[in-house]
Amino acid sequence: MSTLLEVKNLKTSFFTHLGEIQAVRGASFTLNQGEVLGIVGESGSGKSVTALSVMGLIEEPGKIKEGEILFEGQDLTRYSNSQMSELRGNEISMIFQDPMTSLNPVYTIQNQMVEVLRRHQKIGKAEARKRAIEMLRLVGIPEPEKRIKNYPHEFSGGMRQRVMIANALSCGPKLLIADEPTTALDVTIQAQILDLMNELKERINAAIILITHDLGVIAEVCDHIVVMYGGSIMETGTEKDIFYNPQHPYTNGLHKSIPKMTTEQKSRLIPIRGTPPDLLHPPAGCPFSARCPHTMAVCLEDAPPTYGISDTQTSACWLMDEKAPKVDNYVSGGKGIE
Ligand SMILES: Nc1ncnc2c1ncn2[C@@H]1O[C@H](COP(=O)(O)OP(=O)(O)O)[C@@H](O)[C@H]1O
Ligand SMILES: [Mg+2]
Repeated sequence: MSTLLEVKNLKTSFFTHLGEIQAVRGASFTLNQGEVLGIVGESGSGKSVTALSVMGLIEEPGKIKEGEILFEGQDLTRYSNSQMSELRGNEISMIFQDPMTSLNPVYTIQNQMVEVLRRHQKIGKAEARKRAIEMLRLVGIPEPEKRIKNYPHEFSGGMRQRVMIANALSCGPKLLIADEPTTALDVTIQAQILDLMNELKERINAAIILITHDLGVIAEVCDHIVVMYGGSIMETGTEKDIFYNPQHPYTNGLHKSIPKMTTEQKSRLIPIRGTPPDLLHPPAGCPFSARCPHTMAVCLEDAPPTYGISDTQTSACWLMDEKAPKVDNYVSGGKGIE
């Protein structure tokens, strides 16, 4: 399978009057064509800043300091603003948590979708309208010929998110980035939107990056998962690796804090103790060291290297070092993080 996106050692900071906020501190990951990559981590981990860096949407006082973002082999960090805006909406599109931030409340859906299509695809109005209706139908909007004449506020939250997805997909992007697309929705609608994304990945030929703070929602949707914390990547693996054989104590902490809907017995939800690191003064060692139940002296001093665990899995944790003690850390055993 060929590589669509390769992010290498990305560092993005915000230079504020308080100092440098190191939002992304050296992130590397790869996405193959047609695959779904999940990026998961608590709020403030650097997920959105990673996505906005790929989109070329980091604004002052933010800056990509270092690293490469290779999209089909071309380094987007070297693109001009006009090259990036050409790419956005054509090759790469993004949907946000709150559809009202990207849908304009004063225009009908038809106006907005037709405008985007005409701008990027250079097609006539009738053709653009036809394509917009097709997209609305694809994402499960009933009676799209009628509904296309509505304004955003005339849709429910779930339907509005479907309209956003239709809008983002209308130009046939190679990459769709969905940043917490279901977080503002209630649980039933969340499940419907994730089902839709699952179905779409079969039908459209786009790769998807699905960002969420909730590991629980992405089971069965993603091919690969990147676990982020404190601006760094803690663990990467296939969905199976991350759900059945997590290696990083942070990933394990995320697991223990999700409700297990399927088991009869009530499993206790264990939140991960403590708060995320201050990215104005990030710790010298592992970002998770202050909260980890297995912290060793080295964890406080040096950031861990990324250890390869298998062909598909990596973990940035000193416990992977051959000299580290063997601990019973993981989901099935151990005491958890308390
Ligand atoms: N425009 C900004 N100015 C200053 N700091 C920012 C800005 N955007 C994000 N940050 C900081 O960058 C860090 C990562 O944020 P973000 O990527 O939004 O986290 P996530 O999406 O994982 O919740 C946070 O500490 C946040 O406060
Ligand atoms: Mg975010």
